[in-house]
Amino acid sequence: MVYTAVLGYGVVGSGVVEVINKNRDSISMRAGDEIAVKKILDIRDFPDSPDKELLTKNAEDVFGDDSISVVVETIGGIGVAYQFTKRALEAGKHVVTSNKELVATHGPELLKLAKEKGLSYLFEASVGGGIPIIRPLGQCLAANEISGITGILNGTTNYILTQMRREGKDFSEALKEAQLNGYAEADPTADVEGHDACRKIAILSSIAYNEYVDYRKIQTQGITKISLTDMQYAEAMDSVIKLVAMSRKQEGRIYARVSPAIVRKEHPLANVEDVFNAIVVSGNALGDAMFYGRGAGKLPTASAVVADVIDIVRHAGSNSANTWKMPEKDNMMDPQEVNGRYFVRIRVRNQEEAARVVNSAFGDVSWVKANNINLEDELAFTTPRATEKVLEQGLSKLKGIGSIRETVNVIKLLED
Ligand code: HSE
Repeated sequence: MVYTAVLGYGVVGSGVVEVINKNRDSISMRAGDEIAVKKILDIRDFPDSPDKELLTKNAEDVFGDDSISVVVETIGGIGVAYQFTKRALEAGKHVVTSNKELVATHGPELLKLAKEKGLSYLFEASVGGGIPIIRPLGQCLAANEISGITGILNGTTNYILTQMRREGKDFSEALKEAQLNGYAEADPTADVEGHDACRKIAILSSIAYNEYVDYRKIQTQGITKISLTDMQYAEAMDSVIKLVAMSRKQEGRIYARVSPAIVRKEHPLANVEDVFNAIVVSGNALGDAMFYGRGAGKLPTASAVVADVIDIVRHAGSNSANTWKMPEKDNMMDPQEVNGRYFVRIRVRNQEEAARVVNSAFGDVSWVKANNINLEDELAFTTPRATEKVLEQGLSKLKGIGSIRETVNVIKLLED
């Protein structure tokens, strides 16, 4: 019998206990041993929980119990979760987590500690919910040089954008639904401002490029400025708007970004709807491979957590922790140097004059007209391919011009 303890009895933690109990027989067969939850640590009371016999508020019941060999951390955040993860590893216990914030922030240190102790620190559930992506990236694709990752990595924002586009729902109504479904973070700012997707692309990139990618250096923008009008323009371009997280390795340097993007309908990511996530990985032997599935929610995420526990039990005695090399010098590209095309909306006083200014600021733009949008005080266009620096110079040339009131929105086009 292998005993585990679950730290944090929230959406994912309770899902882990549920999956271990529900699939007990098949889990034992695959793990080669029976797996049971011995303790659940949480400071809150759950008087109606079916697991109340296992609940404790005393951390010593977990860390002081030598029979518990695997700890599942589903507390979230980088406070108590960080302290408890270190304490578990120091006490000789393997740790499995869904906590992307902790992995993205303290991954190098925790992986190193796990390795020194001959233990595993596994986090399949930290990216893509139930989608197997961490292990495939680190193991199944290990023969490839990975040149890029492009994905939809946040279920909440994908759900919101889908509901807005398909049902015409407003942003806050769709967010409320995502919260009710258990997709959103405790503070949904992390979802809607892109921070959650940023941590996830940092984790994937650290694995793909074999060096730590610091999420604090990733250019990040959320979806709060995206309106139904932007979506109508996207439709006129035969495209949809998605929150895209991407990274590329070029000439030894890494470029990573999270932002809304206009995605052509024929692109595989355009059809990823609702809470689903998808990740396209480009390797030099395999070419492109896409991983797709439910990116958030209780049981999908628990499924990935429990798979890590099974992996530890099946490979008992062998440490499966990798380490992330810290880069010797700044490994990130300056976003200003990166080429792209952009969709721009501006509010104008005089369309003809404003169009002349736009052409002289950006060169050969393509005007975007949407059938159902006839805003006399607005122009929309896509820029030629240029660096972000050139884009910003173009935008600054529109400022202080009499025929132009303001820039309403700028959204990157997803080009590959
Ligand atoms: N809030 C996250 C999301 C949960 O919506 O994707 C899964 O990491």
